[in-house]
Amino acid sequence: SADVVPQAPEDPLFGLMAAYRADNDKNKVDLGIGAYRGDDAKPWVLPVVKKAEEILRNDPNINHEYLPIAGLPDFTSASQKVILGADSSAIQEKRITSLQTISGTGAVHLGALFLTKFYNTSSQKYSIYLSAPTWANHNQIMSNVNLPTTTYPYFSANTKGLDFDGMLSALQEAPEKSIILLHACAHNPTGVDPTDEQWKEIAKVMKQRHLFPFFDCAYQGFASGDLNRDAWAIRYFIDQGFELCIAQSYAKNFGLYGERAGCFHFIAAPNDGAETAKRVGSQLAILQRSEISNPPAYGARIASLVLNDPKLFAEWEANLKTMSGRIMDMRHALRSKLEEMETPGSWKHITEQIGMFSFTGLNEKQVAKLKEESHVYMTKNGRISMAGLNTRNIDYFAKAVDKVVRD
Ligand code: LMR
Repeated sequence: SADVVPQAPEDPLFGLMAAYRADNDKNKVDLGIGAYRGDDAKPWVLPVVKKAEEILRNDPNINHEYLPIAGLPDFTSASQKVILGADSSAIQEKRITSLQTISGTGAVHLGALFLTKFYNTSSQKYSIYLSAPTWANHNQIMSNVNLPTTTYPYFSANTKGLDFDGMLSALQEAPEKSIILLHACAHNPTGVDPTDEQWKEIAKVMKQRHLFPFFDCAYQGFASGDLNRDAWAIRYFIDQGFELCIAQSYAKNFGLYGERAGCFHFIAAPNDGAETAKRVGSQLAILQRSEISNPPAYGARIASLVLNDPKLFAEWEANLKTMSGRIMDMRHALRSKLEEMETPGSWKHITEQIGMFSFTGLNEKQVAKLKEESHVYMTKNGRISMAGLNTRNIDYFAKAVDKVVRD
């Protein structure tokens, strides 16, 4: 009976969001969940998304039929071009198979399920290596599909940057054919990315060790403001001839959080080609059918309209610059305020890290104090969502940090 079901803890991130909402203090600051806010602290509907919604509203051909199992074809093909570049050899050689998914989470899940069933066998089980730390949900998703996990060093608490040597030696020591989950850009939760030169070395070791790259790409265009720059690592790995897969999310870069628009891509190695991609696609379709039958239409229609129209696409790029630019401004402002106050410690990592998050280096006790004394909400590991800062609350936040660091 259900008596045996133990009580599970609340999801830490969504629990934090609920605690923030319940707080009535007028100075409260939400730096928890990774969702963009404007300078007014409110969610921002991208102007290009509003335009696409208007077009959809006036389209007499829109109905509410099922999408195909693999999703909206115009959406998946445009998504391939966005992530790999329109001139990618993988697209031209039809070595890619893509399914629309329930955003990035669904793409990571579908990929993990596929790897459990077809990459691992009853006699040979490969683990998936996750960065330490990583997005908390990665662990849950892998464990749900029984894909064994292990970790590779990633963040150095000393430098608050990349532990490159630790990462490389873990990859060197990983059993051949292990699966390596890599954050394509704007690493969550640390905001620390390898440089291009470091990516090249990572690829070299992974090639030597026959490791399988699984890219999670949740922030393309949102990190640097440039879609191509943020996809650089993925495209480099494709150029090196890897067989790999990609989870692509449009939550952050389109501001389509609730619509769950994303894509899973499998790219076969150049010598395996189109035939492999086709076979893999046929199995992915069966997995998708048993799990969700077919993906939701609304968010994919919006993204598809924008991705397939050069004028709207250019507007989207401008919207991406607005979001990434405001976040970069907040990074500079926070660092200079802390430096002006001579808050103990070094704060240069705030501007060196990139994307939605900064890993501040504040410890669990300091985080708890910030919540109790200053009504500032952030995750226990010291991660802040940069988008929660704005010109009205940044002084307040910097002073609160200064205080807990000195206490
Ligand atoms: C986050 O890490 O805050 C976001 O990616 C939201 C989520 O789903 O966890």
